[in-house]
Amino acid sequence: MPEVDTAHSEHFDVVIVGSGAAGLTLALRLADGARRIAVISKSALAEGSTWYAQGGISAVLDAEDSIEAHVADTLNAGAGLCDEPAVRFTVSRSREAIEWLIARGVPFTRAEPGEKAPGYAYHLNREGGHSHRRIIHAEDATGRAVETTLEALARNAEQITVFEHHMAVELIMTDDASEPRGRCRGVYVLDIEGDQVHTLSARHVVLATGGANLAYLYSSNPHAASGDGIAMAWRAGARVANMEFMQFHPTCLYHPEARSFLISEALRGEGALLKLADGSRFMPRHDARAELAPRDIVARAIDAEMKRTGEPHVWLDISHRDKAFIEKHFPAINRRCLELGLDMSREPLPVVPAAHYTCGGVITDLAGRTDIAGVFAIGECAFTGLHGANRMASNSLLECIVYASAAAEAIAADDACRAPDPGEPLPPWDESRVTDSDEEVVVAHNWQEIRRFMWDYVGIVRTTKRLERALHRVELLRREIHDYYGTFRVTPGLLELRNLAQVAELIIRSALERRESRGLHYTRDFPHTLPRAMHTVLSPPREDVPGVVYRPL
Ligand code: FAD
Ligand code: SIN
Repeated sequence: MPEVDTAHSEHFDVVIVGSGAAGLTLALRLADGARRIAVISKSALAEGSTWYAQGGISAVLDAEDSIEAHVADTLNAGAGLCDEPAVRFTVSRSREAIEWLIARGVPFTRAEPGEKAPGYAYHLNREGGHSHRRIIHAEDATGRAVETTLEALARNAEQITVFEHHMAVELIMTDDASEPRGRCRGVYVLDIEGDQVHTLSARHVVLATGGANLAYLYSSNPHAASGDGIAMAWRAGARVANMEFMQFHPTCLYHPEARSFLISEALRGEGALLKLADGSRFMPRHDARAELAPRDIVARAIDAEMKRTGEPHVWLDISHRDKAFIEKHFPAINRRCLELGLDMSREPLPVVPAAHYTCGGVITDLAGRTDIAGVFAIGECAFTGLHGANRMASNSLLECIVYASAAAEAIAADDACRAPDPGEPLPPWDESRVTDSDEEVVVAHNWQEIRRFMWDYVGIVRTTKRLERALHRVELLRREIHDYYGTFRVTPGLLELRNLAQVAELIIRSALERRESRGLHYTRDFPHTLPRAMHTVLSPPREDVPGVVYRPL
C-alpha cells in the first residue's frame, strides 16, 4: 500500500467512497488492472454495517434450490415493487459472487460431516421469506469474516491507496455540454485528523457509503450510516427512489448497555419463537408463516403487540434448543448475551425492532451508473430495484458483491479510464468565509432531535398528520443547518448532521407521496395496497436550497 500523499490535491483513476463489502469488492476487482484507486473511509477501514452483518449472504448454492425460487421469494418479499430484471440479474450472479469470496479466502462455515448439503460443501442457514436454506455464513459473524478478508487484501494491493479517517464532503461537479446534469470530476475530502479538506480528482467517483439508518433514534447500524452518499448524490443532481422503505429489523436486543445489538434472524430460522410476557406466541395470529414471515410483517406485528400490551419489548425464545447447538451456531451472539447477563439457552431474550436497512437510494442501472456522469453508486446507498418495498434477509451483502463486480466491469470497459488525465485543475475547498464553530451543542442537539422525531413520526406505523409534522420540523432544521454550514468550518459531526437532515427529508417526502400501504410503508390513512405498484422517484432542484421537485420516473 503506498503512503498517503499529504498534498491538498491528488488524482486517481477511481475514487471509492466507502470501505464496506461494496467498496472493497470494487477496489479489489479493479486492482486486477493497472489503475490508481483510492478508497476513502470516514473511520477505520473496517467500520461500517458490513462488519456487523450476522446471518449471511443469500445465494443459489443448494442443488435443490433454484434461481427461479430465489427470484420468486425476493419478488414476494418486495411486495410487488421489485424490478424483476434487477432481481434476476442479482440472483443469477449469486453463485459467482460467493465463489469469488471463497477464492479470496472468506472462511464460510462448512457443512457437518453427514449433514445434508446437496452439491455444496458449506452449511446454509434459513431466514425469513426464503423458501430454501440458502444463506451461506461464517458462524454468526459473516460480515466480520468478509470485511476482514477483503480489508487485508486491499491493504496489500499496490494499486489501492487507503485514506482512513477521511470523510467525503461533496462531489465536485463541472459543466459539460454533453451532460444535462454536468460531470463529476472528483470529491472534496475532509482529513479528520489533519483537519484539512483535500481535493481528489478522478475519472470515476463511486459512492459506497452504506445506508441512512441513523436517521432513527434506535438503529442496529454503526455510526457510519448517516446517508452521506445519498445526500451528496442528491445535492449533485442525482435522482433517488423509494426512500420511504426503511426496514426495521424485528429483533434487536432490548438492554440498556446493548445499543440495539442485533439478534440474527437466523435464530428464527433455527426455531426461535416470538412470545409475549405470559409466554404465549403471537406471530401465528399475524401471518401463516409465523416467525419466518418477511421482516415488515414481523416488525409490524411486534410493534402492534407492544402497543396493545403496553410492554416495552417482546421475547425471543430459543431455549428449547440445547446449549451445545446454540454455542456452535451462534457463538458471537451467545457470547455478547452472556456478557450482558443473558443466557439464551435457559431464558428468552428481550427484543424490539430497530431501523436496520435503507431499501431506497440513489437510482442506478445494473452496473451502478447514476444519473450523473462520472458517478457510480453501489451497496446500500444505491437503488438498483432489487429490494422493492421490503428487502429479503441476506439479499443485501449479495447486492454489494454483485453490483460492485458489475461496476468494475463497466469501469474497466471504459477505455478512457485507463489513462490518468487530471484535466483542468479543480478549485480547492474554499474556507475563506467560515470560522470555527463556537456552538457545537447545536450539532448534537439537532442530531438528537431529527432521530427522535423520525422515530416517533416516521416509524413502523405512519399517519399523514405525523408525516406532515415531521416535514415541518425537518424543513426548519435544514434551514438552520444550511446557515450553520455557511458560517462555520466543517467538522464530521456537522457534515453528518447536514446529510442526515437531507435524507430525513427525502424519507418523509417519499412517505407522503405514497398514498397506499405496501411492504415496509404502512400508513393508517391509506391502509390498502393499490393495484398498480409505482416507485417513488424524487428529482433534485439544481441548487442546494430547502425544497424538492418531484418528477415521474
Ligand atoms: P457499509 O458496510 O455500511 O460501509 C459504508 C462505508 O462507507 C464505511 O466504510 C464508511 O466509513 C464509509 N462512509 C460513509 N460515509 C462516508 C463519507 N462521507 N466519507 C467517507 N466514507 C464514508 N445484510 C445481509 O445481507 N446479511 C446479513 O446477515 C446482514 N446482517 C446485518 C447485521 C447488522 C447489525 C447490520 C447493521 C446490517 C446487516 N446487513 C446484513 C445489511 C448489510 O450489512 C449492509 O447492507 C451492507 O453491509 C452494506 O454494505 P456497504 O458496503 O454498502 O456499506
Ligand atoms: C440478520 O442476521 O438477521 C440480518 C440479516 C440481514 O439483515 O440481511
